[in-house]
Amino acid sequence: MDKLIINGPCKLSGEVKVSSSKNASLPILAATILYPGNIKFKNLPKLSDINFFLQILESLGANTSKDNEFTEIAAGSITETKADYELVRKMRASVLVLGPLLSRFGKAQVSLPGGCAIGTRPVDIHLIGMEELGAKIEIDKGYINATCDELIGASIHLSFPSVGATENIMMAAAFAKGETIIENAACEPEIDDLANFMNACGFEVSGAGTSTIKIQGKKLSEFKSENTINYEVIGDRIEAATYIIAGLMTDSNITVSNFNPQHLKDVLKVLKSMGAKFEIDKRSVEVYPSGKLQGAKVETQPYPGFPTDVQAQLMALMGVSNGYSIISEKIFENRFMHVPELVRMGMDIELDGHYAFIHGVDQISAAPVMCTDLRASAALVLSALVISGETIVNRIYHLDRGYENLELKLKALGANIERVKE
Ligand code: EPU
Repeated sequence: MDKLIINGPCKLSGEVKVSSSKNASLPILAATILYPGNIKFKNLPKLSDINFFLQILESLGANTSKDNEFTEIAAGSITETKADYELVRKMRASVLVLGPLLSRFGKAQVSLPGGCAIGTRPVDIHLIGMEELGAKIEIDKGYINATCDELIGASIHLSFPSVGATENIMMAAAFAKGETIIENAACEPEIDDLANFMNACGFEVSGAGTSTIKIQGKKLSEFKSENTINYEVIGDRIEAATYIIAGLMTDSNITVSNFNPQHLKDVLKVLKSMGAKFEIDKRSVEVYPSGKLQGAKVETQPYPGFPTDVQAQLMALMGVSNGYSIISEKIFENRFMHVPELVRMGMDIELDGHYAFIHGVDQISAAPVMCTDLRASAALVLSALVISGETIVNRIYHLDRGYENLELKLKALGANIERVKE
């Protein structure tokens, strides 16, 4: 298993360009199942989760090819409607093939994803939505078996604005008869990008980015298999937030570019309240040396609230800021796996249920640490950048799932960081 060796303290400078968003790319890859023609993506992020999703599409019968810049997918050749346990168990987002398979073929069999490091993560809201469209759902031997004679548009009120459920139901509704309305839908920018992609393919989705999304059902016969759609996924707001926090923790002047800062409104508001200095441009944020920041009180929430995917990185920043901070994690019940590792580095953090109480310390120190999930791993790397001496971050395959070339990007900014292959 590869590890990172970071020699701090590091001062960063220059510009870092974020990659296309992982969490927008995955549902969009699932949506390719709906389209019988060819799709040509520019700059899909080079991540293990993306490679893995392409394998799932291939296992269903899609043809895929890629070079350094473009990835092409032709899903017209899909005939298989079962997504096997061996594939699904490696990545929860694979459950997103359920909606598009059901919509296009009238049936889908997808292994029920298990829990994961950050929470139990059930898919009940996805399944209720599909039932409301007329699907018959059975759980048998660990598989979700979904079938229907015909899906019929419906008004669906989500009990919680789940990102994945909103996406799965949007895709299931693509070939449903008539109009589907999703109420209390998730509003994340990644949902908006999925809608933009579907519309680029010729589907009719409106309202994405708000809590009411409407989908007008289409017929498969309206789509031509000889057409090619070109698409580029939005910049990764979570990767951008991670580098912005890296700049602040190392008291550096860096520019984080290739994303829409509006997608980080709440994160930037919180950072500003802590004393961060930065300038927002259309497609970038320039971070200025801001000295020691102050503590803050933050609660993770569905978009446009503070994203759970930036919680671990923010906690690392709070751990070396002045004063006292509180984080309340409201989205996932077990997303504090980074805390024991941050404490091993010398941070003063106490947990009580979904609250973390953080007393900023003046100095943290090198310790071997272990990644437990994607964003937890990012928090460890950020902390290592400010530590005097050598920190070894183990099990970085978690980072490879969601950060393209993390160590190369940090190195280009001036960090002393090396990947050791084992
Ligand atoms: N939930 C249910 N039932 C459902 C669906 C969700 O109870 O049917 C609960 C979950 O257990 C969780 C909460 O609702 O407690 C939020 O889950 P949601 O469905 O919104 O999240 P997701 O679609 O599983 C996506 C991202 C996550 C990100 C969350 C929240 C992808 C591939 N994943 O997950 O990203 O944390 O939205 O914004 O888009 C990451 O990138 O590190 C990551 C975990």
